[in-house]
Amino acid sequence: MCGIFAYLNYQVPRTRKEIFETLVKGLQRLEYRGYDSAGLAVDGPSKTTSDLKNNTICLFKKTGKVKALDEEIYKKDSLNLDEELFTHFGIAHTRWATHGEPSALNSHPHRSDKNNEFVVIHNGIITNYKALKEYLITKGYEFESETDTEVIPKLIKYIYDNRESDSITFSTLVERVIKQLEGAFALVFKSRHYPGEAVSTRRGSPLVIGVRSEHELPAEHIPVQYKIHEKNSHNRSDSSNAINSVGDGRAVEYYFASDASAIIEHTNKVLYLEDDDIAVVTEGKLSIHRMNRQAGEDPVRAIQTLQMELQQIMKGNFDAFMQKEIFEQPESVVNTMRGRICFDSKKVVLGGLKDHLKEIKRCRRLIMIGCGTSFHAAVATRQILEELTELPVMVELASDFLDRITPVFRDDVCFFISQSGETADSLMALRYCKDRGALTVGITNTVGSSICRETDCGVHINAGPEIGVASTKAYTSQFVALVMFGLMMSEDRLSLQKRREEILNGLKVLPELIQKVLSLNEKIKAIANELYEQRSLLVMGRGFNYATCLEGALKIKEITYMHSEGILAGELKHGPLALVDKHMPVIMIIMRDACYVKCQNALQQITARSGRPIIICCQDDTEVTQNAYQTIELPQTVDCLQGILSVIPLQLMSFHLAVLRGYDVDFPRNLAKSVTVE
Ligand code: F6R
Repeated sequence: MCGIFAYLNYQVPRTRKEIFETLVKGLQRLEYRGYDSAGLAVDGPSKTTSDLKNNTICLFKKTGKVKALDEEIYKKDSLNLDEELFTHFGIAHTRWATHGEPSALNSHPHRSDKNNEFVVIHNGIITNYKALKEYLITKGYEFESETDTEVIPKLIKYIYDNRESDSITFSTLVERVIKQLEGAFALVFKSRHYPGEAVSTRRGSPLVIGVRSEHELPAEHIPVQYKIHEKNSHNRSDSSNAINSVGDGRAVEYYFASDASAIIEHTNKVLYLEDDDIAVVTEGKLSIHRMNRQAGEDPVRAIQTLQMELQQIMKGNFDAFMQKEIFEQPESVVNTMRGRICFDSKKVVLGGLKDHLKEIKRCRRLIMIGCGTSFHAAVATRQILEELTELPVMVELASDFLDRITPVFRDDVCFFISQSGETADSLMALRYCKDRGALTVGITNTVGSSICRETDCGVHINAGPEIGVASTKAYTSQFVALVMFGLMMSEDRLSLQKRREEILNGLKVLPELIQKVLSLNEKIKAIANELYEQRSLLVMGRGFNYATCLEGALKIKEITYMHSEGILAGELKHGPLALVDKHMPVIMIIMRDACYVKCQNALQQITARSGRPIIICCQDDTEVTQNAYQTIELPQTVDCLQGILSVIPLQLMSFHLAVLRGYDVDFPRNLAKSVTVE
């Protein structure tokens, strides 16, 4: 996830300094979306302010936070900060690396060539970038970064260089570019060939445009301009003739951003783009273009008035980042899978591991190492990894692994699972394994983090920045990434093909099933209402759902400060049963899998002691629901993926319990998001 921000002032005098400040402020508002590097592009010094064609484009890029970029800008003394620019378009970007480490070269804006003819900012992932890159290289285009994004400015330049007419519009070029792109994107383009013009578009990634004008906006609804024949669109005048577009040639300012939090301090008038819309600003007028109208499509885009406060907008409609991140899971699991699974050919390719696959297949054992939630992701996937890789799989808490001075061998493969990639215990365990010659693999959510850099190879889970201290979407994405690893390892095992197919089918519909689980939110809130004054809560299950018990209990204790324990149901009679009476709330996970009957036995043991179990089970399972005090019924999926669904009610439960108990969900006491000390 990255943040994009752009600002166009038309007939509104702004000094270069003011423009920089607007761009940097916009990025700071979006910094929560990514913060490993940042960059911006503005017009260079012009010979005369009225002669925009003389403009050059200046790029500034810097690794680290936006503040570092801000400092970098003022180092360049050739730019006159007091110069007044009546019409200007600047673009800016804060990055959360997905392809290529955080570096100035990999950060945006990306450019078409050394003369910066076209520059682009991008949020999303271009899944077919390799094919496009190969093609463009054969055409003589040189690439300077490792990113997927760079194909976009190169592609627009290629189309421009091969244009059939000099009057081709900027929006036509962009339209032809997006026809070639697969994946997700929000894009904003700037070009020396089209000074003072802005073109932006999106597919799958958000993009909002703010409009500020001293004059009343002429239209509350902007009609979409459909291009019927590509031929007609080559005329440069097609966008400037826009009827009922916003802006009537008088002073106006436009703000383009990944979300409204970067815009709200300038204007509350916004317009949300839809997939494949191309928004163009020419001579101060904004118009929306797209290809042929689809049946049922709304032919207008409404300008909406935002009523919200800044803080609210950053969290969307949510009260806390944790809650937002829980609800992002249908999208974040897709981002983990994006470009890696071909459901038709049943192939899974994790680019970061493919060159090491042979070595991994020959290894003595797989050792999965992590802390807290990341350790639970290892517990959750251990069984399916054993089944699909046919290798011994050890799961280890990093601190304990080090305390035991665990023997590690050259032919071991050690996985380090970490959202932040900076957890000290995991990092030390990584160095310990490296010293012993094992192959090290990172499973992280933070490109460029220490674990990322120090491992031999790895997988980025691409869940997007996680701000809430309690980890939620990173867990489900780690889970998915590890299952994908198992699928990749078992591709050539004939005996496992049926199982692989069943899992792939499960992954395909996973986002919809997560959505269904999220729709149980109100029911879970009602149960939380009954539980929030309790001192203690037990969470019980076994098999594929044991990790859910550990993870659910961790979520509850860390943000609600209630005592909570995840218990393996098989261990119930070996001790924990003594805790059970009619006062002790017990959440039981009983799914229809190989452990179903054994879990029912545990349920009997609870009810026989007057316990009042809250049961998380499969939809319409009357056999278990008849013994329940409360039930949370989930859609059923393949056994090894069920843990992704069963953890979500417990994430929601912990959230509601914490809110009811009056605690700050995002910042639990004594905890930090990234634990960089032993
Ligand atoms: C719990 C939580 C922690 C982390 C643990 C490891 O919600 O967030 O238990 O999972 O500190 O952190 P990472 O994954 O960054 O190594």
